[in-house]
Amino acid sequence: MVAKYWLRTVMFVCGLLFVASAQANFPSVPSETFEALKLDRSSTTPKQLHEALVKRYKDPAHGAGPGSMAEYWEPIPYSIYLDPATFYTPPTSMREVASRGECVECHTEESPVWVQAWERSTHANLDKVRNLKPSDPTFYKKAKLEDVERNLRSMGKLRDNEPLKEVGCIDCHVDINAKKKADHAKDLIMPTADVCGVCHLQEFAERESEPFGYFTLWHRCPDGGLYVRCVV
Ligand code: HEC
Ligand code: HEC
Ligand code: HEC
Repeated sequence: MVAKYWLRTVMFVCGLLFVASAQANFPSVPSETFEALKLDRSSTTPKQLHEALVKRYKDPAHGAGPGSMAEYWEPIPYSIYLDPATFYTPPTSMREVASRGECVECHTEESPVWVQAWERSTHANLDKVRNLKPSDPTFYKKAKLEDVERNLRSMGKLRDNEPLKEVGCIDCHVDINAKKKADHAKDLIMPTADVCGVCHLQEFAERESEPFGYFTLWHRCPDGGLYVRCVV
């Protein structure tokens, strides 16, 4: 009993130390990336790494935006999918102000296939990941889920004892862990890599470490069954 008490105290203190020193020192991210961002890899927090990556990701000098020849060409409708950060605006036909649950409810009627695909995805079934047994070949995902929660806490998107319940329509298409209602005609976005990167920081940092700076990633989109260009 006493031993158990001590163990718990030690674990608790270790837990506090771990939380206090959340780091984004991913071995798979080359030192050149940290150097280019002027960050010290041994002490950088997830929040600092994400902020520095996003600053560069959104910098026109690094290729973001319509480009220096913008005045000579017009985007075609498909451009909004290739570069939603520059070209996407939400449809004005929908005048709804909706909560997290209402997005799913109405879209079950409006676009049942999208909802079905999402319902079957990992993003809608995080408890399954949380309850994986060590004998399961996909057990490694449990640690990835914990990484995601750690990133969200570092970025102030999740409270200390709050588990991430799901990654729903509203998280990707409005704001991560949104608690308020969203205005369909104003707040909708098509998520770009920096949005995924709030949660999947390691993958975002790896992607942004490409020496070419700009490349296309064809990704299996978690809410569609298809291969679409999720991140541009
Ligand atoms: C009352 C029904 C309703 C609710 C509630 C609703 N939607 Fe929609 N949504 C629609 C309809 C209808 C469309 C198609 C509009 C169009 O293409 O003109 C649409 C389109 C979309 C699109 C695609 C936009 C595009 O550019 O093609 C996304 C993404 C989306 N909704 C996300 C959401 C999210 C996130 C929420 C919750 C905040 C939500 N919806 C709530 C009915 C709804
Ligand atoms: C993990 C993030 C994520 C989640 C969760 C998610 N989406 Fe998406 N959604 C995307 C991405 C990425 C795209 C493609 C954007 C692009 O083409 O550039 C997309 C595209 C769409 C489109 C297509 C718009 C068009 O004009 O073709 C609709 C509609 C849509 N999502 C609705 C939903 C609904 C409804 C939900 C919830 C059931 C949902 N999404 C959940 C990331 C997400
Ligand atoms: C709010 C946090 C959050 C956001 C935003 C988010 N994800 Fe995830 N995603 C998770 C979590 C948690 C998991 C489960 C643990 C893991 O496998 O990383 C996951 C899993 C995945 C997986 C693995 C699925 C599987 O079945 O193994 C892929 C691929 C993925 N996400 C891609 C994306 C893409 C692309 C985007 C942006 C369009 C995105 N995610 C946005 C939290 C998020």
